[in-house]
Amino acid sequence: MVQLTLPKNSRMRVGKTWPKPEGAKNVRRFNIYRWDPDTGENPRIDTYFIDLDKCGPMVLDALIKIKNEIDPTLTFRRSCREGICGSCAMNIDGGNHLACIFGIDEVKGKDVNIYPLPHMPVVKDLIPDLTHFYAQHASVQPYLQTETPAPAKEWRQSIEDRKKLDGLYECVMCASCSTACPSYWWNGDRYLGPAALLHAYRWIIDSRDEATGERLDALEDPFKLYRCHTIMNCTNTCPKGLNPAKAIASIKHMMVDRIV
Ligand code: SF4
Ligand code: FES
Repeated sequence: MVQLTLPKNSRMRVGKTWPKPEGAKNVRRFNIYRWDPDTGENPRIDTYFIDLDKCGPMVLDALIKIKNEIDPTLTFRRSCREGICGSCAMNIDGGNHLACIFGIDEVKGKDVNIYPLPHMPVVKDLIPDLTHFYAQHASVQPYLQTETPAPAKEWRQSIEDRKKLDGLYECVMCASCSTACPSYWWNGDRYLGPAALLHAYRWIIDSRDEATGERLDALEDPFKLYRCHTIMNCTNTCPKGLNPAKAIASIKHMMVDRIV
């Protein structure tokens, strides 16, 4: 039996190693974080071997294969399988990715190591508790706010103003960016983090919105906005290719422009 080597002081346990598929010639090893709060035991790493000739190309395909054919107790979130719902975000090969659009052959390490998103409470196995993350999103009031009476048909917007929302509206709220951010790790209770701030900016620059001043006032706080130190992990990790760091910098510029 192959055993993972863990640091002596690690509270992580070496878990179960499942047998290799018989006769398979193209096998890859998956080491996966497991934790079940109902057992009262420390987390462990379980090891599975996947016949890549009988598996789809994405990491999510391998997880589904494990759950369906090897170990039904493995727990993870997924829904759309198209990079749209944001639910399958996890830490793969040391980086945050959407498992459904991250290819097994993109993993540079010899093994495929999979953990839940970093620095978040874990509900079970690969499922992080995103309650606080969603509350922070709600706190930026991510919806249109107006005082002008609603037009009979629709709020109109020029093509030019609509283009300003490109690179922002595509966010799928996967939390990869916020959970890759050291400032969010240490101050996530008060720093809103890149995802919530990207959404705040999306509404701040929406030409139809009439609460811009109030939105900026709400972010004028030593922690909510200014704990961003432009580390750039958020932008480097976003699986949708968005740039939360640029959105945060734009909010900071708007704050300065209000003063001078
Ligand atoms: S900005 Fe990117 S990484 Fe962050 S929540 Fe949105 S899609 Fe995910
Ligand atoms: S399953 Fe929806 S983004 Fe991966």
